[in-house]
Amino acid sequence: MRSSNWVLTHFALFATLAAGQDPPSHLPPVPPGIFNASARILINAPIQKVWDTLLDFPSYPEWNPFVRSQVVVDDLGIPLNDQTPQEGRFILIKSVIPPLEGPVDASTPSDPERTQITKEIITHVNTPEQFQTAWKNDSPPEVLDAERWSAVSEVVLDSRTYTLYESREVFRGEMAPIVEESVGEGLQKAFEAQATALKARAESQICLESGV
Ligand SMILES: *[C@@H]1O[C@H](CO)[C@@H](O)[C@H](O)[C@H]1NC(C)=O
Repeated sequence: MRSSNWVLTHFALFATLAAGQDPPSHLPPVPPGIFNASARILINAPIQKVWDTLLDFPSYPEWNPFVRSQVVVDDLGIPLNDQTPQEGRFILIKSVIPPLEGPVDASTPSDPERTQITKEIITHVNTPEQFQTAWKNDSPPEVLDAERWSAVSEVVLDSRTYTLYESREVFRGEMAPIVEESVGEGLQKAFEAQATALKARAESQICLESGV
């Protein structure tokens, strides 16, 4: 059944995106690296809603099967009262690679063997353009240079406006081949799982708000 599922999935995708019209990317161009993980998905919710969901780190445990928590901290790693993402602030990211089977909520047990905690720094919020954001690994770039970009943009199809969510992280540096070997495939699955879950989260919140 694998091949017919593939056809169905891809047919649906093409039908939605109409005759191969791949919506243009709102991610900034970056030079290629050793490898990258990426995801893009169309979401039937207003751009501001998707953006707010993406930047609402305290709610990540309620929906994100990849990034189980993302906490804005000071330089000693102590959580700040104000969790607003701002350029130059540190974040502690607890991620599960490959991701948990979705859907998840705040009480979904983690898998310690697949869990890692990384300290990153927020490098962009609404820069260089609106609705673009990024955070970056806190290692020396020659060791591991990995900046995760995320962006949302509006796409009009059949006179309906959708939100395109995109995320991409390009890996460079001495450690990049080792990272690719150990978690490359799982990380790609994780990016896709987060995109699917973000779509579900944003679309369900729109339903809640409109009382459907
Ligand atoms: C990401 O990886 C894919 C597949 O290897 C490649 O085609 C693409 O150019 C890469 N993108 C970037 C920005 O490095």
